[in-house]
Amino acid sequence: MRQIAIITGASKGIGKAIAHEFAKKCYDIVLIGRNQENAEKVGDELEKMYHIRTLAFSCDVGSKEEVEKTFSEVVNLLGKVDILVNNAGINSRKTLNSNDNENWFTDFEDNLLGWNQEISTNLTGTYICSYIAAGYMLKQKSGSIINISSIKGKEPTSSPGYGSSKSGVIKLTKDMAKSLAQHNIRVNCIAPGFINTGMTTELSPDKKEIYKAMIPMKRFGKVEEIAKVAAFLASKDSSYITGTTIDVNGGYLM
Ligand SMILES: NC(=O)c1ccc[n+]([C@@H]2O[C@H](COP(=O)([O-])OP(=O)(O)OC[C@H]3O[C@@H](n4cnc5c(N)ncnc54)[C@H](OP(=O)(O)O)[C@@H]3O)[C@@H](O)[C@H]2O)c1
Repeated sequence: MRQIAIITGASKGIGKAIAHEFAKKCYDIVLIGRNQENAEKVGDELEKMYHIRTLAFSCDVGSKEEVEKTFSEVVNLLGKVDILVNNAGINSRKTLNSNDNENWFTDFEDNLLGWNQEISTNLTGTYICSYIAAGYMLKQKSGSIINISSIKGKEPTSSPGYGSSKSGVIKLTKDMAKSLAQHNIRVNCIAPGFINTGMTTELSPDKKEIYKAMIPMKRFGKVEEIAKVAAFLASKDSSYITGTTIDVNGGYLM
């Protein structure tokens, strides 16, 4: 029987690459994004290339109601959930600008909005999707949950909403792994460095060069380099690994 994998944020970037890698392994794929059309486009591409089944949903991972409805529909249509990848994420790039103390209080409203959006999508979204998927995995006594954090969850950053949400994902991975291990459900995490996606094309060329110089391998990563690690964590090849975070960052953090 085919493995059923739900991937959040699967319409582009890292999530789309993970969908391709899983499809190569003949998993059936559920693609989740906020924009239904973009998720469907990737689904059509996968069906044509790999002859697998796909489903695409518009679902905000930060909404308990939307995730409950979506995951229950997945189980009704495909029968189970074997793998969940919590990849959906946003970076509002709201920074603490302590050089500009004139605007410190005026910036607060906007910074707090960014904080709330990042915590809701990146951290609460991971919790909601994991909690609900684990409910189905507990019944079948197996499962693999893979969370996507970031180097910014490990090192200090001037964007505290993004950084704290990604630190939280690493901690949540351990907490859920500990509770679920006895039921043969593994929970692991990947902390990518700078990866070439829409999220990093937003950076100015100057900033990109500064960051590249700080990476021992002197380049940004490719989405496929994250997808291969996700495929390993999803598979039986990692059957005795749980609660861990794998750094994939060209040596940026050692
Ligand atoms: N790129 C990097 O350098 C890098 C580094 C470290 C960690 N990461 C992490 O890796 C993950 C993927 O990043 P990426 O660069 O591939 O990002 P991306 O290209 O911006 O893609 C983000 C994906 O998440 C979806 N998404 C956003 N908010 C959502 C929500 N509330 N509910 C459901 N789906 C939502 C988007 O779908 P819609 O457009 O339809 O909303 C899109 O499919 C993120 O968690 C990010 O923080 C990225």
